Amino acid sequence: MEKELRVYIDGEFYQQSEAKISVYDHGLLYGDGIFEGIRAYDGVVFKLDEHLDRLYRSAHAMMLKISLAKTEMKKAVLDTLKTNNLRHAYIRLVVTRGVGDLGLDPRKCSNPTIIIITTPLIQLHSEDRKKNGITAMVSWVKRDPVDATTHEIKSLNYLNSILAKIEANIASVDEAICLDKRGFVSEGVAENIFMVKNGEIRTPPTTTGALPGITREVVIRLAKRLRYAIAERNMTPNELFNADEVFFTGTAAEIIPVREINKRVIGTGKTGPITQRLMEEFFKLTKDPKEGTLIP
Ligand SMILES: Cc1ncc(COP(=O)(O)O)c(C=O)c1O
Repeated sequence: MEKELRVYIDGEFYQQSEAKISVYDHGLLYGDGIFEGIRAYDGVVFKLDEHLDRLYRSAHAMMLKISLAKTEMKKAVLDTLKTNNLRHAYIRLVVTRGVGDLGLDPRKCSNPTIIIITTPLIQLHSEDRKKNGITAMVSWVKRDPVDATTHEIKSLNYLNSILAKIEANIASVDEAICLDKRGFVSEGVAENIFMVKNGEIRTPPTTTGALPGITREVVIRLAKRLRYAIAERNMTPNELFNADEVFFTGTAAEIIPVREINKRVIGTGKTGPITQRLMEEFFKLTKDPKEGTLIP
């Protein structure tokens, strides 16, 4: 039988099939918790510090007191990878409010649950899609606004994205795009979005309720370094339909071109030159040990 991976729960390692938490955990009962999706490339955990910073920012906003200091959490992530002998991996770090009663009051939960799941790399899209682009649609599901369950907090509340993904599935397209309440483009279901028009790269601000993506930050930095014009600015669906290039970014998706939105062909329908260049430079960065934390 294949050796099972081990999962970290509150300081202990469990075989995958034995890795279980209480049905009274408010992460399950109410989606009361936060998470990070992180990648390790060839023995280096890409942007681990940045992911941990975001996790603790999410916790701060939700008044969720994580029992581990950031350095201890970092060690726990690295230990989990080491225990599983993984160098190329996808890491799911989850912190829930912990076990409480059937009421939603978080004061009843005294101990947050910390879970670290690691797995050999996941692939969201086929090689063909990664090279030639995916199809997407603007969904009727609006991104939760900044004064509600905004994705500025990376919480376990993902129903907003799941509803949009269901629409994409029904329409037989690869991904969905969510608008904010005003009708401006916000982001994909688990990706940030960028467009290119006349050589200028644009991405929506997080005031649209979009997640402040780590990959988004990396791409903004790369674009500046490569001397492209780049702006965080609102965009309309019409602007997206008429863009020269559109691409998504995310830890799981990496950088992926979008070739069609609501059946409108984007640009030439092929991966554009700026997207291509950013993809090449991004993959170089993922191989740079300075961009992450070495697995000991
Ligand atoms: C809603 C949402 N937007 C954007 C992203 C991309 O963020 P990152 O690049 O940090 O993975 C994610 C990633 O999980 C996400 O869930």
